[in-house]
Amino acid sequence: MKDFRSFFLMKPEDVQRYAVEVLHHFAPGEETVCEEIGDGNINYVFRIRSAADGRSLIVKQADRLLRSSGRPLDPGRSRIEAAMLKLEGELAPGLVPKIFCYDEIMSATAMEDVSAYGNLRKELAANRIYLHLSENISSFLADTLLPTSDLALDAEEKKRRVRFYTNPELCRITEDLVLTEPYYDYKGRNIITPGNEDFVQRFLYDNFELQAEVGKLRLNFMNHAQALIHGDLHTGSIFANEAGIKVLDPEFAFYGPMGYDIGNVTGNLIFAWANKAFAGRGDAACEKAIPLLERVIAETFDRTREKLRQKYDETVTLPLYRNPAFRSFWLDAVMADSVGYAGTEIIRRTVGDSKVWEISSVRDPELRIPMERALIKLGIALILQRERLQNGSQLTGLFRLILE
Ligand SMILES: Nc1ncnc2c1ncn2[C@@H]1O[C@H](COP(=O)(O)OP(=O)(O)OP(=O)(O)O)[C@@H](O)[C@H]1O
Ligand SMILES: [Mg+2]
Repeated sequence: MKDFRSFFLMKPEDVQRYAVEVLHHFAPGEETVCEEIGDGNINYVFRIRSAADGRSLIVKQADRLLRSSGRPLDPGRSRIEAAMLKLEGELAPGLVPKIFCYDEIMSATAMEDVSAYGNLRKELAANRIYLHLSENISSFLADTLLPTSDLALDAEEKKRRVRFYTNPELCRITEDLVLTEPYYDYKGRNIITPGNEDFVQRFLYDNFELQAEVGKLRLNFMNHAQALIHGDLHTGSIFANEAGIKVLDPEFAFYGPMGYDIGNVTGNLIFAWANKAFAGRGDAACEKAIPLLERVIAETFDRTREKLRQKYDETVTLPLYRNPAFRSFWLDAVMADSVGYAGTEIIRRTVGDSKVWEISSVRDPELRIPMERALIKLGIALILQRERLQNGSQLTGLFRLILE
């Protein structure tokens, strides 16, 4: 029987033993049930439950190979993910699962089971638009981002963290899939809906004005070590119920621009709206959900800015930075980045190979083609006008205008 002193990819029965022998979470002989519940492309996620009292635990294991394609991927991502979840738990208590243990040898993290919360993408699809979302998401963003930046941290500690969280292979995925290929399909991986080829050619592949702006956002992503960011904050990384949210899966974390996280959430909330506006037309529940969603999107954006400002005033001490003109410049720049990265996220999920459910589930070309065009138009407008769009209702107003 394998012990856990050298790496191997675990099966549910190995995880049951691991939870007793290494984690000491269950007593020897205690009956447990274990299943692999991962639905992602990258890792393996196991839930172990005690048959006696229902106590449960999650073990997430990173393999040396990507789950979906079998391509090699640095398992060090799991060390970054576990450290990040721990840090986020300190900065934003209650908004991430508790970490019990990280095992470097097995690339495995034991954490709190948050199955009482549902995948936010699916919750929104089911028209469960929790009104606490803007409050909780904006708190998560402001509380985890600003305190890890040079505005708040000791400069040497910050550079130590930049080193620890250097995450080249995962960043490379973003640099390629999000910030290159939708505009320059050099790997031939884009998936364009038949009927939209000419549209994509004209508005993305031949749009040099847009590409100049995407170039700026790409280099900014690679060079602006502004704050420790989650790096993959889409609505499938956020779990929610009536009580609140839990944010999962920060394996793409690194020191990058804060706007990347803010923009990612914003863009993904917009997919929920776009789906309802096209595929949900005529459906009373979807139509009722749209104004609520619109409100969540605008409020999340505005509250994030407001909370960043509050956090700034609470934490920043250097007189140079406390200058109100500098503070405004800084906030404007973060929010402009956020708008720009909402745009790149919307475009990459529409033309890239990593589609979101809100798009891939729309099979009727009569709906899918115009929906994708509206999203691409919105993405372009967000990128090009990012310096001008500084509040949530301007942002949602822009999509309204495109939908008309
Ligand atoms: N702490 C947890 N509690 C309950 N369920 C969890 C937990 N962590 C992960 N899961 C479940 O496992 C799924 C996959 O988790 P996660 O997104 O972390 O994996 P991943 O392989 O990194 O996915 P991706 O391909 O999106 O990067 C989640 O969607 C969720 O359903
Ligand atoms: Mg992941």
